Amino acid sequence: MKELVLLSILALCSAKPYMPIRIMDFMKTNEIMLQDAGDDDDDDNNNSLFPTKRARSTPPPFPTCPFGCHCTMKVVQCSDLGLTAVPKDIPADSLMIDLQNNKITEIKENDFKGMNNLYALFLINNKISKIHPKAFRHLNKLQLLYISHNLLTQIPANMPKTILELRIHDNKISKVQKEAFKGMKSLHVLEMSANPLENSGIELGAFDGMSSLFMRIAETKLTAVPKDLPSSLHELHLDYNKIGKVELEDFIRYKDLQRLGLGYNQIKSVENGSLAYIPNIRELHLDNNKLKKVPAGLASLKYLQVVYLHSNNISGVGVNDFCPTGGRVKKSPYSGISLFNNPVKYWDVLPATFRCVSNRMGVQIWNFRKRK
Ligand SMILES: *[C@@H]1O[C@H](CO)[C@@H](O)[C@H](O)[C@H]1NC(C)=O
Ligand SMILES: *[C@@H]1O[C@H](CO)[C@@H](O)[C@H](O)[C@H]1NC(C)=O
Ligand SMILES: *[C@@H]1O[C@H](CO)[C@@H](O)[C@H](O)[C@H]1NC(C)=O
Repeated sequence: MKELVLLSILALCSAKPYMPIRIMDFMKTNEIMLQDAGDDDDDDNNNSLFPTKRARSTPPPFPTCPFGCHCTMKVVQCSDLGLTAVPKDIPADSLMIDLQNNKITEIKENDFKGMNNLYALFLINNKISKIHPKAFRHLNKLQLLYISHNLLTQIPANMPKTILELRIHDNKISKVQKEAFKGMKSLHVLEMSANPLENSGIELGAFDGMSSLFMRIAETKLTAVPKDLPSSLHELHLDYNKIGKVELEDFIRYKDLQRLGLGYNQIKSVENGSLAYIPNIRELHLDNNKLKKVPAGLASLKYLQVVYLHSNNISGVGVNDFCPTGGRVKKSPYSGISLFNNPVKYWDVLPATFRCVSNRMGVQIWNFRKRK
């Protein structure tokens, strides 16, 4: 359940420009946070007239909160303050720290020292180019680390193994070093789009030991499907790259893929047989490429429900391109097929081509129906 929430937040926030995360809204969708935050109530809430525990004469302890920040329920909000460094006096028991949209250039060794309850750290939209290799060493409970829109040139070293979601979109990363994610078995969501990453920049073994479910490497300089990503992936988004073709063994490791995004590349061909390696695929985006025909093998994908092929160079559609023949069964009928903006002579497409579509409205073939 929690993962679903995270994934949906990620999907919402993966747009290119910097979009601030509203921390309080974020908390509301994260029930766990509120529960954790509740236990700092050390007042015994006794309704008696005479307070027994805390004598009137001793004032309540002055809450530590960095100047200008807002601290409530162990959430420290220091966004939009023009800070050039992480404030020194962040309470050590903080659960969430929001440092979005400042001018921080560097994360130093002791910036988050002793904060071993920290659950989420937001460093989005700063000018961070350096993170001390020991900066995160005590963050034994950190699950969300968002460092998108910064100036990092490499994946931070020694990240806590507890991290569930890492967002490092829009930095200057051109290289993913071997074992960059070593031991991070919980890292289920990795968003590293919009970095100047080429296939040759991914060292062999870079993703070893990870069991990610969701990965997005869009808007980079990839020219081929990376072959060395975690084999556990359920979702892989590689849109807005420079991939020129899909080769036979591109997906050989990714047997559990359910959603695959390859839109906005330069794919001219999908080798026959390549899709047979992803038999569980449900959603396939190949729109805005240079395909000349419908990829071979779609009809054998029993669970495929959505396939986007619009804005390609497909000039003909065969009657068996989408649906199985000869008594073979398609377990899930299609709910969406898009073919518009292709040089297809639509009057030549036989209606039986779409015999395994659940609803004829699901087929978008005409150019005037340009909605997704
Ligand atoms: C509340 O106050 C009353 C009397 O002042 C005391 O007897 C009682 O134990 C207190 N309750 C708690 C939960 O501390
Ligand atoms: C793809 O390969 C299969 C199996 O080798 C073959 O039966 C089929 O005709 C091929 N399809 C195309 C479009 O080449
Ligand atoms: C589309 O395919 C035709 C040949 O089938 C080719 O002449 C044309 O250049 C292609 N267009 C694009 C935009 O690739």
